[in-house]
Amino acid sequence: MLALYLEELTKTYKLGFKRTPIKAVDSLYLSVPEGSTFGLLGPNGAGKTTTIKAILNLIKIDRGRIRIFGEDHYNYQVRGKIGFLPEQPYFNLSLNALQTLNFYGQLFRMNQSEIRKRSFHLLEEVGLEETSHLPLSKYSKGMLQRLGLALALLNNPSLLILDEPTSGLDPVGQVEIRNLLLKLKKEGKTILLSSHLLTEVEKLCDQIAIIHKGKLVLSGLTEELLREREKVKIHFKSPNKKLPASIKKLAAKTSQDGAVFTVETPSSKTNDLVRELIKQRCQIISIKPGGSLEEIFIETVAGYGN
Ligand SMILES: Nc1ncnc2c1ncn2[C@@H]1O[C@H](COP(=O)(O)OP(=O)(O)OP(=O)(O)O)[C@@H](O)[C@H]1O
Ligand SMILES: [Mg+2]
Repeated sequence: MLALYLEELTKTYKLGFKRTPIKAVDSLYLSVPEGSTFGLLGPNGAGKTTTIKAILNLIKIDRGRIRIFGEDHYNYQVRGKIGFLPEQPYFNLSLNALQTLNFYGQLFRMNQSEIRKRSFHLLEEVGLEETSHLPLSKYSKGMLQRLGLALALLNNPSLLILDEPTSGLDPVGQVEIRNLLLKLKKEGKTILLSSHLLTEVEKLCDQIAIIHKGKLVLSGLTEELLREREKVKIHFKSPNKKLPASIKKLAAKTSQDGAVFTVETPSSKTNDLVRELIKQRCQIISIKPGGSLEEIFIETVAGYGN
């Protein structure tokens, strides 16, 4: 079953006095299977947050359809299955974490004992149990982000939508949140997240979609996309400081930085290339795997211009 299905989603903002139209999301189709961890990627202004706001029915869409667990997204009950962490969560800084969770728990019409039990559990999960009585004005950005995640989980949602969940977190905090999300995935939750941290997405998301100027430009299983583009990068020095023609012929891409040459090749050609480098008496400096999600992202987005 699909946790989320977007069909021809289109949203135009009208800007300024002249009401100049800006197409933030343009005929976007997306399918997020139940149980998957789905990365919504794209450069700044690509339309990720607008797409998320549309799913949550926070903005009026021009055209298209949004289905959540097979139901129309206007359906009030189906929205109760979603947990949401906004890009810039807003908090009342005079409250502490427990009071904040209590406030939102009441909005979800949970009873007091349920709120207390769930709050303690969630604060422990996100590593805030020892600071739960501190006013939020004393919290760091990372701590607020973790509280935001606890709030998103308060109603035990089946679909978790996170707009840049690790922004503002230090590397340790990022790993902690990633591990927590992996645990939630194991529990069967579907996670849709937008992020600019591509190594993070690579480790966490089993599917990705890249959008650019509101349009879908690439989507698929992360593993497959990486495998299709699997390659190696070889750095070497040449005895006469020139790139041998036979190497150039074998490589998909070549570059030079001073005396050091870099060649890229699909993994299948690594042996041929190494053999030729040795034959040409080149000094191999390093052989590194290429084809990261970061490279896929940059190549894809660059291919569509600015
Ligand atoms: N309320 C608004 N009024 C007018 N234009 C808007 C509004 N919100 C977003 N936009 C425009 O819509 C486009 C998409 O913005 P959006 O915030 O969805 O991008 P994003 O992919 O989330 O970017 P980022 O990575 O910077 O968070 C941008 O051109 C943005 O300027
Ligand atoms: Mg955004």
